[in-house]
Amino acid sequence: MSAQIIDGKAIAQKVKQEVAEAVARRVAAGKSRPGLATVLVGDRVDSATYVRSKQKACEELGMVSFSHHLPADATQEQVEGLVRELNADRRVHGILVQLPLPPHLNEERILQAISIEKDVDGFHPVNIGRLAQKGREPLFIPCTPNGCLYLLEQSGVPIEGAHAVVLGRSNIVGMPAALLLIGKNATVTVCHSRTRDLPAIIRQADILIAAIGKAEFVRGDWVKPGAAVIDVGINSKPDPNAPKGYRLVGDVHFDEVKEVAGWITPVPGGVGPMTIAMLMKNTLRAAELQEP
Ligand code: GUN
Repeated sequence: MSAQIIDGKAIAQKVKQEVAEAVARRVAAGKSRPGLATVLVGDRVDSATYVRSKQKACEELGMVSFSHHLPADATQEQVEGLVRELNADRRVHGILVQLPLPPHLNEERILQAISIEKDVDGFHPVNIGRLAQKGREPLFIPCTPNGCLYLLEQSGVPIEGAHAVVLGRSNIVGMPAALLLIGKNATVTVCHSRTRDLPAIIRQADILIAAIGKAEFVRGDWVKPGAAVIDVGINSKPDPNAPKGYRLVGDVHFDEVKEVAGWITPVPGGVGPMTIAMLMKNTLRAAELQEP
């Protein structure tokens, strides 16, 4: 039996539509348009593409985007200075510093400089700390893990009591995804590059979140029949038949795993569009918190 394909593009479109309607209602009531400032440091092509898609989504939804691009050799003081200016700018409700930063910069200090009310990525230590604690609510939840949870919930996948395996322990996806799943009463195992006998652990998963950054890493015979498989990976794979000479694949071997899983997200068109939809939702929330 073939898995149900979770259409992340359609689900994200619906979320964005709801955000656009809420923005229009806000503006009609005489309030400000939500504003998102993006900060890109350096010339990574992938980061520049992600930032452009975020700015484009803002404009489509009636929000304002403020784009800041600093050179790869920008100093710690320059980046923190820009963040402080954006903290003080009333037109800016959300601040997004695109990661990864060039290695000479102290990422932790820069993320900590963002006002928690404007931390639409949810990466400020206070927001992450609240996510990690029982009975505490972060102001914002990181966008990609929140998108993964939203896809599971919209698809009717039972989370409470399920064994969820998170493959990868990054600050951006793996760790916050594990914390969110614990908050939804799943039993969570976090696996990483040093985990022994990974296939045996993955075979126990009712829910698998794959965020390890290795093309088509998870094979069909590693997956429990009927499991929900959420593929966060975006890897380019050489393909002489594709117009650009490569195609995008996830961390999961889609053709094999779709024959075993109960649900699966495609790449592209799965988690990717949800990250942006959740960022738009967080930016609207930031505006509502700052200017109810
Ligand atoms: N780099 C990869 N994903 C993200 C994200 O969600 N937010 C930021 N700021 N940087 C990223």
